[in-house]
Amino acid sequence: MTAEVIDGKAAAARLRERVGALALDFARQAERKPGLAVVLIGEDAASQVYVGAKGKATVAANMNSFEHHLPADTPQDALLTLVEQLNADKAVDGILVQLPLPPQLDAQAVIAAISPDKDVDGFHVSNAGRLAVGQDGFVPCTPLGCMMLLEERHGSDLSGMEAVVIGRSNIVGKPMAQLLLQANATVTIAHSRTRNLAEVVRRADVVVAAVGLAEMVRGDWLKPGATIIDVGINRLPPEPGAGKGRLVGDVAFAEAREVAGAITPVPGGVGPMTIAVLLRNTLVAAYQNSGLAKPDI
Ligand code: GUN
Repeated sequence: MTAEVIDGKAAAARLRERVGALALDFARQAERKPGLAVVLIGEDAASQVYVGAKGKATVAANMNSFEHHLPADTPQDALLTLVEQLNADKAVDGILVQLPLPPQLDAQAVIAAISPDKDVDGFHVSNAGRLAVGQDGFVPCTPLGCMMLLEERHGSDLSGMEAVVIGRSNIVGKPMAQLLLQANATVTIAHSRTRNLAEVVRRADVVVAAVGLAEMVRGDWLKPGATIIDVGINRLPPEPGAGKGRLVGDVAFAEAREVAGAITPVPGGVGPMTIAVLLRNTLVAAYQNSGLAKPDI
C-alpha cells in the first residue's frame, strides 16, 4: 500500500482564507481589525523566522500585527510590564510570547501573566485546565491543527480507534491526547521512558509523533493502514558539499508511506497548520473580547 499524503499546506491555505474573510466581517461589525501581538526576546534565528512568518500571515488575514522585539538580556519585570500593557490594550486580541525564552526569564511566570482571554497559544493553566475538563477555551495551535487534519480523513468521531501520541510536552503531547480523548479515541501517551515503543505504536490506528528525534518512528512499527501525523521538524546534518541538511520529521517518511494509510509530510504537513490555527484563535479572541456573536470556525 502507498499512503495518501495529507496536504497540510492546502488545508492551512483554506483555513487562512476562511479566517481572512471572517476577519473582514469582524472589522465591519467592530469597526476595528482583530489584533495579534507577538513578543520576541533575543536573536534566536529560528524564532525570528517563525515570528516573521506569523506577522506576514496575520496581515494577509486582514488583521493587525503588533511586533515587539526585545533584547536578549531583557529582565523578567520588563517583560511582565509589557505583557500587562498588552493585556490592557483594547486593540490587542491575542498575545503570543515566542518560546523558548532566554535563560534569565521564567516562561511559566510569563505565560501566567497573559490574560487567559488573550492566550491564543492556549498555554495558560486556565486554558489547559479547560481543555482537560472539556470546557470551551483556547487550544494550543499545533495539536488543534493536527485534529483538523485528522478530521478531514476520519471525521470528528474517532470511536473505536486506538491513538498513540509519542511525546508528553505541554505544547503538543498532552493537549493532543486530550483532544483525541474528546473525539472518543482510546489514547496512549508514549514518551522517552516507554518500554517496547515499537509494539505500542503497532497497536495504533492513529499515530501522532511529537518527540523531536529525526526519523525515529520506522515503517515496521506501524499498523498497516494507520494514519500518521508527524509533528517533528528536524534538520539532518548536511550532505558533503551541501549548505544545509534536509528537513525531516519524527517518522521515517519513505518507509512509513509504504505501510500507512495516510501520512503528513515534513515540510508541508502539520507546520503550515500551526500558523493558520493561530490566526483562527486570534479571530475567536477578537469576537469574544468585543462581545460579538462568534461564527463557527
Ligand atoms: N515556539 C515554537 N512553537 C511555538 C508556539 O506555538 N508558540 C509559542 N509561543 N512559541 C513557540
